[in-house]
Amino acid sequence: MTTDLLAPFKLNNSIELQNRVLMAPLTRCMADDNLVPTQAMVEYYARRADAGLIISEATIIRPDAQGYPNVPGLFSDEQIQGWKKVTDAVHANGGKMFAQLWHVGRVAHPHFFDGEVLAPSAIGIEGSVPRMRELTYQTPKAATTEDIKGLVADYVKAAENAIEAGFDGIEIHGANGYLLDQFLHFASNQRGDEYGQTPENMSRFPLEVVDAVIAAIGAEKTGLRLSPGAYFNMDEDNRDKAVFDYLLSELNTRELAYIHGGIFDDSMRFESLDNQTISEYLRTNYTGTLVGVGSYDFDSAKQAISNNKFDLIAIGRAFIANPDYIEKLKQGQELTAYSDEMLAELV
Ligand code: FNR
Repeated sequence: MTTDLLAPFKLNNSIELQNRVLMAPLTRCMADDNLVPTQAMVEYYARRADAGLIISEATIIRPDAQGYPNVPGLFSDEQIQGWKKVTDAVHANGGKMFAQLWHVGRVAHPHFFDGEVLAPSAIGIEGSVPRMRELTYQTPKAATTEDIKGLVADYVKAAENAIEAGFDGIEIHGANGYLLDQFLHFASNQRGDEYGQTPENMSRFPLEVVDAVIAAIGAEKTGLRLSPGAYFNMDEDNRDKAVFDYLLSELNTRELAYIHGGIFDDSMRFESLDNQTISEYLRTNYTGTLVGVGSYDFDSAKQAISNNKFDLIAIGRAFIANPDYIEKLKQGQELTAYSDEMLAELV
């Protein structure tokens, strides 16, 4: 069986994508000092509107969510207006766009805001903020249940702001060692209350966020990114699999727009996941629409989708190197190779 990745795909009853190739969320650190998207960002995203769905760079839900310089936010009016220009330009070019909602938890740094660094437990990470080596990470404060309530409310507010800003939906960033992921792994969650110790408890806060966002904007507009295998700002623990088994069994009843793996290379196998890759593990345990990602090219993605490994592909670095990625595929043109130096400029 072959699958045409460039043919339209019905995501659900309210969203149809022009093709199955998504632009992965890609942090570029180019918002202005009020964390407002700039005109260069409007043009950058508009150029990529022929992707099936653009997922925005991770966008912080409130000030203490910040761990990197000049990342955009979705909590001030100015930020909403800035994003409106982006979504208008993407829509004018025929595209669709979700906002990725982000809180980095213990990867935050108080250099960027007034207040404490919040995480499930008071367990810090080694190292320092990228590009700002003098800012070493701090031991976070374990969030109180009051803090957790406030966080859920702020995810909802950011989701509502995203809709006001014209996004077609949102992706909750539950991957890559950031706040929600920190609740889901034993290495970062050592709480003794109803948010720790058991799969049900460790899944509680992520599910509260998912349910509250669904109640606010609808499940068909809500996607979720997850990293069941620990690979970034996180240590692997063989007990984590039971947490994700439970979480996914719950998510199977929610009718989300999709679940998206969070990984850089999907050939990586995780001992903690019975030696499966991220997409294998998610496909086995999740019954809804699955987005594959991680060092795929168009041909390997096509093969994986034909073999029913996942339903949609997200492409990251190749979309940085090739604003015209989709057009080049259609024309059979050679792609420009990605290099890290390309991150210096928004093209
Ligand atoms: C990323 N990635 C990422 N992931 C995420 O969930 N939110 C983000 O904001 C970012 N930011 C980001 C910036 C840069 C410069 C890179 C290279 C990657 C991960 C990204 O979405 C994707 O999972 C990986 O890049 C793997 O896909 P590719 O690049 O192999 O197609």
